[in-house]
Amino acid sequence: MIVPFDDDALARASALLASGRLVAFPTETVYGLGARADDASAVRRIYEAKGRPAENPSIVHTRDAASAFALALDVPPLARALAARFWPGPLTLVLTVRPGAVANEVTAGGPTIALRVPAHPVALALLDRVKLPIAAPSANRSTTISPTTAEHVHKSLGDRVDLVVDGGATGFGIESTIVDVTTSPARVLRRGSVTLEALRAIDETIVDAGGNVVGHGELARAPGTQARHYAPRTPLELLSRTDIERALAADSKRTGLLSRSFDDSRAGKTLRLPDDPIAYASGLYAALHALDDAGLDRLLVEAVPESAAWDAVRDRLTRASRPA
Ligand code: TXA
Ligand code: MG
Repeated sequence: MIVPFDDDALARASALLASGRLVAFPTETVYGLGARADDASAVRRIYEAKGRPAENPSIVHTRDAASAFALALDVPPLARALAARFWPGPLTLVLTVRPGAVANEVTAGGPTIALRVPAHPVALALLDRVKLPIAAPSANRSTTISPTTAEHVHKSLGDRVDLVVDGGATGFGIESTIVDVTTSPARVLRRGSVTLEALRAIDETIVDAGGNVVGHGELARAPGTQARHYAPRTPLELLSRTDIERALAADSKRTGLLSRSFDDSRAGKTLRLPDDPIAYASGLYAALHALDDAGLDRLLVEAVPESAAWDAVRDRLTRASRPA
């Protein structure tokens, strides 16, 4: 059930979380599906609701950096520097977990923990109130399109979630950047709104592990990296403008188009996002949800530029286009 954010919602949500139930809430990136991170059965509920494999660990959200670092065994200076610069905000840090700090299910039994202090006022109010670390993956069924509104959460999870706190559409629209600071050099495991360039202003040795595109052997280290992810049910192809125009000339009626540089009235449904990576990211998942719900046979998405500024968006689109 969806409730608008207010004092009552806050009280209900924190009581549910404290008692081991699931609450979806907005962060500045996407909606998260939260459960108390110190309670194994609460965390298992997340995996059941999402249909998520148990070997894929979850991000733990806390009110501030001190509460986050209390869950880590060792906090290297780089982690402190990145936290000081980017928290609260769309950055997740992977650190060595302090044994017993959270349920094993959160870390999938691994030696590390992913930590983040979100910047959204609703998320912060909730974390403040409940005073517990909250495990929260994106609030959608595993591998499907992430939710940027409360309605997206409801559509994907229905009654599998005990409460959805509606705080409106999220701002950034794609998931946080994940940086593993347990290795030297530190590595970006998932691209996001915090760019490699911004990270390198703090430490120029940070490397990009390949924007989620890691091999199978790396899965335990950089999970959530299944090839197909963020995917609509409708088959999606990522094509150049020329190839899209050719495809529409051949057959257009039951085709959806997501463009950024042109309009083409031949498509059954067209959505156009701004030709700017930040504004595009903000609208991407809502556009994919809308096109996917339109009952079309295929979705054609205009490819985005190869430049670094588009890395995070390009990763999501590439994964969304992989065949099931
Ligand atoms: O923006 C976000 O990060 C959103 C909001 C809700 O905070 N959360 C999110 O969670 O995207 P999720 O579960 O959809 O993605 C979490 C990613 C997964 O790829 C997971 O494998 C990775 O974080 N992860 C979690 N713990 C990890 C760890 N200890 N080491 C490496 N990767 C980890
Ligand atoms: Mg997710």
